[in-house]
Amino acid sequence: MSDPLRLQATIRDAVRSAPSAGAALERAVTLLAEGCPHFTWTGIYLLEGDELVLGPFVGTPSPHVRIPLGRGICGAAATQKAAIIVDDVNADPRYLACSLETKSEIVVPIMLGDRVLGEIDVDSDQPAAFGRRDQALLEGVAEALAGRLAAPPDVS
Ligand code: SME
Repeated sequence: MSDPLRLQATIRDAVRSAPSAGAALERAVTLLAEGCPHFTWTGIYLLEGDELVLGPFVGTPSPHVRIPLGRGICGAAATQKAAIIVDDVNADPRYLACSLETKSEIVVPIMLGDRVLGEIDVDSDQPAAFGRRDQALLEGVAEALAGRLAAPPDVS
């Protein structure tokens, strides 16, 4: 990640100008994956009832396409309404494995006020790959996505 502030601005612009909320989600995961070489798997889950449902992603297909709120690091982040960084996924009993190569993970909720709309989930094949810069980047992207997910559909 060469310049996280610039990357965040680029992604926020792309999210705002995407023709639909679905396109905004696609653009966000694509630009994050392209801009951050340590992001091995980058995806978005959307909350439907009490389950997180996998949306667009870049990386190997995950077996976890629906995650109940009580399960996984993803479920924990949505329940706590806060970002979670795990330096060593194999040492975390909450971890639901997506790939044997994954070593670390960051999950950042997409919030509208106090309401969880979904989350951005990123895995890395490098141990302890994520820090405050990644969290700040993903929180900025999540804020822009929340604005798009909350907006009424364009009926023009
Ligand atoms: N590792 C996540 C599951 C999703 S996969 O990483 C894509 C978890 O523990 O919730």
